Amino acid sequence: MDRDRLLRELSEFLRIPSVSTLPAHDDDCRAAASWVAAELRRLGCSDVEFLGSEKHPVVWGVGPHVPGAPTLLLYGHYDVQPPDPLNEWTTPPFEPAVRDGRLYARGAADDKGQVFCLLKAVEAGGAPAVNFRFLIEGEEEFGSKVLFDLLKREPHRTTADVALVADMSYIAPNWPAVYSTLRGLCYAEITVRTAKSDLHSGEYGGAAPNAHEELARLLGRLKGEDGRVNVPGFYGPVKRPSKAELAAWKKLPFKEKDFLVKRVQAKGLTGLKKYSVLERLWALPTFEIHGITGGFTGQGAKTVIPAEATAKVSLRLVPNQRLKQVQQQLAAAVKRFAPKHVTATVQFLHGADPAQIELHHPAFKLLDRAFREVVGRGTVAARAGGSIPVVPALGATGAPVILTGIGLPDDRLHAPDEKLDLKQLWDGIEVFKRFYELLGASR
Ligand code: BES
Ligand code: MN
Ligand code: MN
Repeated sequence: MDRDRLLRELSEFLRIPSVSTLPAHDDDCRAAASWVAAELRRLGCSDVEFLGSEKHPVVWGVGPHVPGAPTLLLYGHYDVQPPDPLNEWTTPPFEPAVRDGRLYARGAADDKGQVFCLLKAVEAGGAPAVNFRFLIEGEEEFGSKVLFDLLKREPHRTTADVALVADMSYIAPNWPAVYSTLRGLCYAEITVRTAKSDLHSGEYGGAAPNAHEELARLLGRLKGEDGRVNVPGFYGPVKRPSKAELAAWKKLPFKEKDFLVKRVQAKGLTGLKKYSVLERLWALPTFEIHGITGGFTGQGAKTVIPAEATAKVSLRLVPNQRLKQVQQQLAAAVKRFAPKHVTATVQFLHGADPAQIELHHPAFKLLDRAFREVVGRGTVAARAGGSIPVVPALGATGAPVILTGIGLPDDRLHAPDEKLDLKQLWDGIEVFKRFYELLGASR
């Protein structure tokens, strides 16, 4: 395939600022959906539709019918995370740029570049003997509500022999992976109200409650300095990985020191120190604060006691935790930890149950073989710290869900200077092309 053309086409897709969480970008999300739909038509899909929403439609497509061939459902998302802080990007997030063999743009790896790979592999394969179904959604980065509701109404959309999700990464350069778990997520806003309005900090300071101070203390009670989440009942359903799995992780190309120095680039790691870093990232739940607003944060100085403060937080969940239960536990903990003179409320924005996937189905062998042939190494079994809300629903009609990806661990998803190595892109197209061929020949 002509790589210049491919790069031009992917850059076109990446230039659309399809940020699903910001209503100002609703039209851009639709434009990205239209871009995907046009690609699906070019692939010869008979039935290309927008489903579920005007703003962030799910793009559905049905590939050319091949009698007797297996059905493969391809999943990905065309929406992206907000690009801020903008001043930390070397080149602007929606002006794709190649430097040193890497393509820099928001969505380059998560997930437009990977959706592109799945689609171009269909084209590269000529007419693979596979009945393709496409579900490319536009709300993954905001909880996938549209797709969830769609699949509740129309579960047959996921009927397939195999579902393939390319929205993850290798676990190290030249180490492709398949994933057996994803963490779930409980995203919430905790708001603390302490008075009817803001107050002069001289007139009232010393006697009036301060919303930021109360919020800071409340957050401090929810998670200790040792990294333990102090939400009562939270760890109840959490199971440790088996001895065999923990032993297998020790053989992976992962060094805690490198993770700190090269990837986190901080002065030290935090969290529950008695567990390995991989166990903390993959098999333990978390509590993170994403941002705190309220009071005075503008330029200059204002002496005020804020009456309200809000924290955006999320908890990552691991198998056997349940979103519903964690929401109840968090609401109860906030109520219990807030002092009487404070009104504390919790609003839940979105969330997802954790996912767990058996890696036994023969289709995993085919992907392993495709990677082995193209990049020289087969897939290693790993777990993922991130979340893809709809994965449990994708497997609900019985298809094995293969979680894999062509990104690298240092792609800086959700952060400034997100990138995709071009080698990963070119290899990825070959890998998926070969996988489709092998799947088509497997009947
Ligand atoms: N592609 C990621 C998920 C991911 C990242 C899996 C890294 C494995 C490793 C996905 O786009 C994502 O970021 N999901 C969100 C979901 C949330 C907003 C409901 C996440 O994990 O924060
Ligand atoms: Mn993604
Ligand atoms: Mn993401």
